[in-house]
Amino acid sequence: MSFTIVEQCTPRLNRTELAVPGSNTTFLEKASKSNADVIFLDLEDSVAPPDKEQARKNVIEALNDLDWGGRTLSVRINGLDTHYMYRDVVDVIEQAGDKLDLIMIPKAGTSEDIYAIDMLLTQIEEAKGYTKHIGLEMIIETALGMQNVHEIAAASPRNESLHFGVADYAASTKTRTTGIGGCHPDYHVLTDPDAEGRREVHWGDIWHYAIARMVVAARANGLRPLDGPFGDFSDTDGFRAQANRASVLGCEGKWAIHPSQVDLANELFSPSADEIDKAKRILEAMEKAQKEGAGAVALDGRLIDIASIKQAEVMVKKAEIIAAKGG
Ligand code: GLV
Ligand code: MG
Repeated sequence: MSFTIVEQCTPRLNRTELAVPGSNTTFLEKASKSNADVIFLDLEDSVAPPDKEQARKNVIEALNDLDWGGRTLSVRINGLDTHYMYRDVVDVIEQAGDKLDLIMIPKAGTSEDIYAIDMLLTQIEEAKGYTKHIGLEMIIETALGMQNVHEIAAASPRNESLHFGVADYAASTKTRTTGIGGCHPDYHVLTDPDAEGRREVHWGDIWHYAIARMVVAARANGLRPLDGPFGDFSDTDGFRAQANRASVLGCEGKWAIHPSQVDLANELFSPSADEIDKAKRILEAMEKAQKEGAGAVALDGRLIDIASIKQAEVMVKKAEIIAAKGG
């Protein structure tokens, strides 16, 4: 282990992050009863410019008046390049900051973006006498943000999570797609011809590098990495495949841009009964090995060692939190 210890952010269950447009009061009401672990009330890209002010009022009202049943709540403010942003922070935090857990910063480009929001939040919290400090979630969705992802992740002790915003990222990097997530038929490899001259087309994952890079920056700073939206909400298999790839790479959850994606993401980012059982058996086997003075043992014909304990502990802890939430 390095002499540098990575401080872990405030722990939260974050298998799902449900996006709800602040301009739609019916959706806000419905979201308050959702199974999502985290809900973000949006003031940014799902709200058209003429509706921005009303959406801000709706969000403040929803935070204060709806019964959210202890759900984790976030508000996505507008970008730092717009004049909406300062009022989003000032009005929402002054009028409903005690109801809010997180602020989501879109299109985070540099560590100074985070510094600026941190400063504003700190002043408002102090002026209002709030004792709870609001955490920050950053969307990495521009080439600039990806270039500076490590500095952004390290920019504030308020930081909790990094999110891959695939739609804006595609626009910023000029990736050749108009979909929100998913694959591209031109991004493939061809196998060498077999004896009959046949070749297979294997599609690749165009988002692999971006998500893997964001995961490293998040984990190196004790933050949660999350995969962002999957636009085609009628394509359950496509969502499942994308979520599984993100989960295997280390993401802790995924956005739901439609209520139908919530239960799916909860399921895909929860450890299975088999995985939990295996993790518990690893902990038992390692406890026994350590009592006998051994550093590594075999379980089910495979080597496990001290590193396996940490992985197993994370899995068991997560299972306990999910069970406490009701499954
Ligand atoms: C999310 O904000 C995205 O741009 O994908
Ligand atoms: Mg975006």
